[in-house]
Amino acid sequence: MSDGQRAIPQPVVTPLTRSAIFLVLAFNPGAENAATIRSFCRDLGALSRSGGVRVPGGGLTCVAAFGSEAWDRIFGKPRPAELHEFREIRAGDRHAVSTPGDILFHIRAERMDLCFEVAAQIMAKLGPAVSTVDEVDGFRYFDGRDLIGFVDGTENPRDQKAMEVALIGDEDPDFTAGSYVVVQKYLHDLTRWNLVPTKEQERMVGRTKSNDIELDDSVKPTFAHNALTKVVRDGNEVKILRDNMPFGQAGRGEFGTYFIGYSRSPATTEEMLQNMFVGKPPGNYDRLLDFSRAVTGNLFFAPSASFLEKATP
Ligand code: HEM
Repeated sequence: MSDGQRAIPQPVVTPLTRSAIFLVLAFNPGAENAATIRSFCRDLGALSRSGGVRVPGGGLTCVAAFGSEAWDRIFGKPRPAELHEFREIRAGDRHAVSTPGDILFHIRAERMDLCFEVAAQIMAKLGPAVSTVDEVDGFRYFDGRDLIGFVDGTENPRDQKAMEVALIGDEDPDFTAGSYVVVQKYLHDLTRWNLVPTKEQERMVGRTKSNDIELDDSVKPTFAHNALTKVVRDGNEVKILRDNMPFGQAGRGEFGTYFIGYSRSPATTEEMLQNMFVGKPPGNYDRLLDFSRAVTGNLFFAPSASFLEKATP
């Protein structure tokens, strides 16, 4: 914040929860719709607070984030320094698609009824100002595993470190305590994946499957997922904050991972994506992508709670 006050972030850094809803909306053009959204932003904190009070220990939080084009139409200037549309990547059979979406609500709680309640209230308040693009209900699966059977989230930074990697500091003073958010909805071909021997799966992920131990560098392939997503700058590892959730409909044969990554610069997540899809060096790509297809891709910006509270209708 430029006025020297300490900006308070939205609840980007929170303990893991059992449930989440990822709600992606399109903003319907019009000055009155922009005003509806700005005035809603002021009430967003109160909305999660009231749900939180009704169910103590429910861990209810909601983060709102905005796409590049929507930002200009809703908030105008100033704009976050690194906000742009999600850049698609094509390499071989692999495609990190860029799909429509103006506003993301990342709603997390211990119980799905709490998430649902907040999503319903958001939709009731925003009414004709928005149209729904995508809605995914995520659930925590055994031991925090994703549907390919591996524990997901182990190497996530925690507490103070999580804030350092996810929240903007002094580098963009108007947007201190904001965060860039990349989301991608992946669908897995579990029938084929389950035919792959466990040892080979472990080489693709870079960790053991049953007890979640990192493979030793002497046996870990350079194409392992946790090798390609390791970003090093000036000799230091640069992390992001993830809160992936499994989702799916077993009856329809849909098995997915909703990837969500918060970072103080989108460049970090983009470098990981480049390494995964194109490969490092090119061609040495992430073999998880032979079994997983990205069907959505968006970059959003989650401004601080202080910024949202000051939005003028
Ligand atoms: C198909 C979707 C994905 C699945 C199933 C998946 C699964 C996993 C698993 C099982 C791990 C190891 C445990 C852990 O440390 O969390 C992991 C690590 C990681 N993933 Fe993913 N992931 C997916 C997509 C992505 C994407 C798109 C990115 C970034 C753009 C990403 C970034 C990371 C990072 C940074 C780590 C930690 C590496 C380390 O420091 O050891 N993942 N992922």
